[in-house]
Amino acid sequence: MSRVKTQKKTATGAKSAKRKAGAAAARPLACIVLAAGQGTRMRSAAAKVLHVVAGRPLISHVLTAVEGARPQRIVVVVGHQAEAVRETVGGRAECVLQAEQRGTGHAVGIGMKRLRGFAGDVLVVCGDVPLMTTATLKGLLREHRKRGATATVLGMHVDDPSDYGRIVGAGDGDVRIVEYRDASPAERRITEVNSGTYCFDAEFLRKRVGGLASNNAQGEFYLTDLLEVASCDRRAALIVAEDDSETLGVNTRFDLARAEALMQERILIDLMDKGVGFLDPSSVYVSADAKIARDVIIGPSVRIDGATRIGEGTQIDGCCHLADTVIGRDCHIKWGTVTREASMRDGCILGPYAHLRPQAELAEGVHIGNFVEVKKSKIGRGSKANHLTYIGDTTIGRATNIGAGTITCNYDGFAKHSSVIGDRVQIGSDTQLVAPVRLGNDVFVAAGTTVTKDVPAGSLAMNEKRQLNRKGWVAQFRKRAAATKKVK
Ligand code: UD1
Ligand code: MG
Repeated sequence: MSRVKTQKKTATGAKSAKRKAGAAAARPLACIVLAAGQGTRMRSAAAKVLHVVAGRPLISHVLTAVEGARPQRIVVVVGHQAEAVRETVGGRAECVLQAEQRGTGHAVGIGMKRLRGFAGDVLVVCGDVPLMTTATLKGLLREHRKRGATATVLGMHVDDPSDYGRIVGAGDGDVRIVEYRDASPAERRITEVNSGTYCFDAEFLRKRVGGLASNNAQGEFYLTDLLEVASCDRRAALIVAEDDSETLGVNTRFDLARAEALMQERILIDLMDKGVGFLDPSSVYVSADAKIARDVIIGPSVRIDGATRIGEGTQIDGCCHLADTVIGRDCHIKWGTVTREASMRDGCILGPYAHLRPQAELAEGVHIGNFVEVKKSKIGRGSKANHLTYIGDTTIGRATNIGAGTITCNYDGFAKHSSVIGDRVQIGSDTQLVAPVRLGNDVFVAAGTTVTKDVPAGSLAMNEKRQLNRKGWVAQFRKRAAATKKVK
């Protein structure tokens, strides 16, 4: 009998726990991102949240983490350089203006005005914590709901607590935060600090945020005081972050560099997990928007910017700067190559010291060699320009060879002009192609030619230049020269 009872109890218990969990998951979520501050300590003309880590502004990293928690609403509080911040936020969130920065409590109050009528939980995140992850935000939310708290703060342990808010209180319902400038010497020694990330019950927040006072060292409305308010009902909670790098708030240039280093470590470890090889990871920089396939091998001092894509099996020797470039499979990018807004298909070979500028498009198996610059040009399958060449505003066919020192003269001082070069063309060294000019298929151009007229398919183009050989001229010259020297 008792066994049946127990079983029944357990089943009911499981059901109610499930229901509770379901209700919690179904509870609406909103998020307020604080981004109105100037960031005086950055000593910069740009608003702090617009400073960049791994190629993205700080605020964009925070928005990505927040979006992962799938809130119904995201409100960004903007103030300093509001227009620029709004532009960066774009359609990802609603922005509200905090015209005067009177503290984090004041900022959240403005955010809550936009969330009028919203019932559920509100995550509050600072716009200056680029390493924050969705997993941590979800963990904070889960604990907040599980504990039935009205205010939960994400704390962290740090070796150097510098000017973070110190966490004091008896714990378990009683959590208070004392700002560094208001803290006693004993409190300043505390190494458990406020990360600046919180979860609140919307109704509690709406009711209490307006009641904050500013009688503190900074004369600001501190959001952190709400923890003490929630503690009166024993409904304040503290969660301690496992990874304190995630909660690193960027306040200074030093913090920004530290955040970059940590982000790079995160990006590179993720790439290595996916099969990308690095000869010297500490010297490589990869943007958060880059996509690199497995078995790509990256040498030392490589910078990969923007939305660069690199296909499987490609090798990058080192000392390269690749920005917004699409690279196919099995390419070989040799030492010192620089590319921007360019693309190449599979099996291309670039460099050493090649330069692809915007709209350079290389088909399969193209070779671009040392000191060759390509701009706004299409180069067909298997064509080669291996030495000391400039190709601009030009379309080149397949299997064509551009000799050393060839220049497409595309600019007349007023306008750019385009040229077309056909398939299987052989261009001799030191050739100038004065645009606009068209070379048909199977054309040969003699070395040292200045091409100013179109060349029909299958023709040889050359300038008539006579070569003279003067026998014994050098000996006579040297004799004359030596005599002049003596006189001097
Ligand atoms: C804040 C916390 C501190 C915590 C630290 C974590 C308070 C009172 N203190 O201090 O306990 O350890 O974060 O990094 O909250 N902001 C506005 N409007 C304002 C003021 C600030 O939007 O009026 C924004 C800032 O742009 C920034 C965030 O709020 O994104 C935090 O402000 P900041 O001045 O960096 O606060 P801290 O002094 O670091
Ligand atoms: Mg801060």
